Parts: sequence; C-alpha cells; structure tokens
Amino acid sequence: MPVNNSRIKGLYTKTVEERLSVVAEATQLAPEHVQALSAHGELDSDAADRMIENVIGTMSLPVGVATNFVINGEHYLIPFCLEESSVVAAASNMAKRCLVHGGFRTNNDEPVMIGQIQLLDIADMERAIAAIAGSEAELIEFCNDIPSKMIELGGGCRAIESRIVQSTLGAMLVVHLLVDCRDAMGANAVNTMVERLAPRLEALCEGRAHLRILSNLASQRLARVAATFTPEEMATKGDREEGLHIIDGILEAQAFAVADPYRATTHNKGIMNAISSVALACGQDWRAIEAGCHAWASLHEGHYTSMSSWTKDADGNLVGEMTLPMAVGIVGGASKVHPAARANLAILGVTTAQELAGIMVCAGLAQNLGALRALSTKGIQAGHMKLHAKNMAVSAGAVGEEIDSLARRLEAYEGHRTQSMVEAWLQEMRDK
Ligand code: MEV
Repeated sequence: MPVNNSRIKGLYTKTVEERLSVVAEATQLAPEHVQALSAHGELDSDAADRMIENVIGTMSLPVGVATNFVINGEHYLIPFCLEESSVVAAASNMAKRCLVHGGFRTNNDEPVMIGQIQLLDIADMERAIAAIAGSEAELIEFCNDIPSKMIELGGGCRAIESRIVQSTLGAMLVVHLLVDCRDAMGANAVNTMVERLAPRLEALCEGRAHLRILSNLASQRLARVAATFTPEEMATKGDREEGLHIIDGILEAQAFAVADPYRATTHNKGIMNAISSVALACGQDWRAIEAGCHAWASLHEGHYTSMSSWTKDADGNLVGEMTLPMAVGIVGGASKVHPAARANLAILGVTTAQELAGIMVCAGLAQNLGALRALSTKGIQAGHMKLHAKNMAVSAGAVGEEIDSLARRLEAYEGHRTQSMVEAWLQEMRDK
C-alpha cells in the first residue's frame, strides 16, 4: 500500500534513526525491514556468497527517501540508493511542484520482455519466415508447456516475430519471442525459453541457431509519465512572472538536450540518477535498465537525444512527459533475497512490477526537472554545496565538530573552493 501522505515536513532535520522511524510508521514497515535498514542493509556473508563469485565482503551506500510524490492519485515515499548529494532533495522538491494538477500520471505497458534467437546459414529467408509464422501457435504452446509460476499466473510467450537483420556477415534471421513476465523482470524465464525453442526453429528454418538471449531493449515494456507544473509552482515563492521565466529557461535547456548528444548524455544521466538509484534500492538489474533507456533514447530521432520532453501548454504551464523501457520485477532475484531491497520495496508498497516501473519514471522526470531548474537559474553547484562541503571537510581529515565548522566556513566562502584550501583551514583550526 502507498502511504496516506508523502508530504513529510522537515524530514531532513531529523536524525537517521528518527527518519527511519517516521518512514516505518508511515509505511507500516515490518520489524524485519526496519532491522534490515538500520543494520545498514548489509547482506550477511552467506547471502552475499550465494549471489556472486569470489566474495570477499560487502559495501554499503546510503538509502534516502524522496517525499512529496503523488502518482495516479496515490502518495509514495520513494527510496533512493546512491552516493551523490542533492539527488533525493531535488526529486522531493520537484515532486511537490505538480500537485495543483494532481501529481504524476503514469500509464505502463504489460510486462512483456523480448527474447532473441539469432538464426544463421538459412538458404531461403522468405520460406523460413513463412514457416515460423505458420507454426506460431504451436511454437507458443511449446514455449509455455513448462512448469512455471509465471505461466501459472497468466504469463508466458505471447507472440513470435521474425526480423531480417543485415550485418557485416550478411543477412541473418532474428526471431523475437514476446514473453509476458508478470511481476518478474524475466531474464531467467526468457533465457530458458529461447534456449528451449532454438532447436525447433533450427529444424523449421533449416538453419543454425547461434545466440539465444533476452534483449535489454524492453520496447514492449514501456512506462509513461506525464505531469503539469504551473508557473506559480515553478517559482521560488509563488510569483507567476518568475515561474514563467524559469519555465522558458527550462525549455531552452530542453532544446539543447534534444539537439545535442553531448548535452543529452548529461541530461539523461540526471534522469538515470533517480531511475538507477530507485532500481538499486529495490534490488533491480540497474545495468539492464540503463542499457535499455539509453538505447531507447537513440532509436527515434536518428541520433541520441533527450529521454524526456518538456513543453509549455496554452496556460503557460510546464508539461513534462517521458516514456522509457522499464524492465523491473518484484519477485525473484535480489528484490527477493536482499534484506534492504525487500525493505525498500515494502516502503514503496508496490503490488505489481508495472506499478514499480511507473514510480521509477516519475522519479526520473522529477530528477530531470530538478537539474534543469537548477541549471537554468542559480547553477548546479549551489545546491550541491551543503552536503558537498561536509564531504570536503571529511576528505580533509576533519572529525566530529570540525566537520560542521569547516562545512559552514566553506558554504559561506564565495571564492573557488579547493580541497587543499579546506585542508589548510583544518590545520589552522587545529593549530589554534
Ligand atoms: C549530475 O549528476 C546530473 C546533472 O548533470 C544533470 C544535468 O546536467 O541535467 C546535473
């Protein structure tokens, strides 16, 4: 279940323990989830050892909760796991600026993944394609004729499509299996299916099956978000004129990202700051999601471009929209076995993978707006400074009280801030 109210005032002023208890109460978090987060979300060594090879330890990253998100009329607290300051604050800040028009609206595809089978050495392509099309129903039945929870729950292979792909080695036939993965991300199920089907296709097409693997370009599993931000909401203190000016600045920034792949890369990195952090917090394969989103951004315009779209409507409101492939699951993998990932999914309270996909694109859009608003107004460094100052102080060797004291001096400093300068200040403090 989402929360009753995601607008938690002053969460940032509390201690880590206090925040966890506020979030635990709001989300009715089970004690084992509270325990997982308060124990720094670490895996025990047995669990870690079962996940990858040659395990020598584990490593933690902070989990922060973004507030103010209203999505399809429901309130969500969204956990982010990352090392970069300002990301959680910016997402929370932007999320509250679209409430006049009801928050974010999402619309997400069925959870369909694509599995690919590469068929080579085919003498007659047209005949092979016709043979596959003619046997589609029987091939689908064969794919789904396995004991599988996903199939029991209504998932499974839905369609089989053939594509001729021209390559440096000549034409190859690439067969796509469209597989409804229900609440799983689906990599295992799809990989099993394509491996099982390949010999049948070889016989049918009189060819040789080579690669049999999931595609991370999950173009059948798109998540869409839209949100409307009034000029008053975009302003610092509700002034419409200022808001209109900020919106124009955001549109100029957007035009830059749409036109220039160098800028689009950075623009999209900001979007992925949120998407990947929520993915990581929830035990998702964030590399798969990153690969899919970046590929999607290069697919339609003839060059790599912005993942998001920002326009102005007839009333002067800023309208943000984004559609991205979102291959996520809430059953299986790390989302099931990692204690902190389970806790973070419980904080979100999602009941389907589609719901999680929608939340992630909302977080990405909010994050993008946070970056564009900052870049079009006072620049990005001002927002980064508060936490960054503390990090610089710690990197200089400051401990205890020294950290806050150095950070305050650094924030107030108007010149160029360097690490060696902070080290010198620390030395000065200690010499006094
Ligand atoms: C920094 O992590 C992300 C930004 O560079 C995104 C952007 O430039 O749009 C601020």
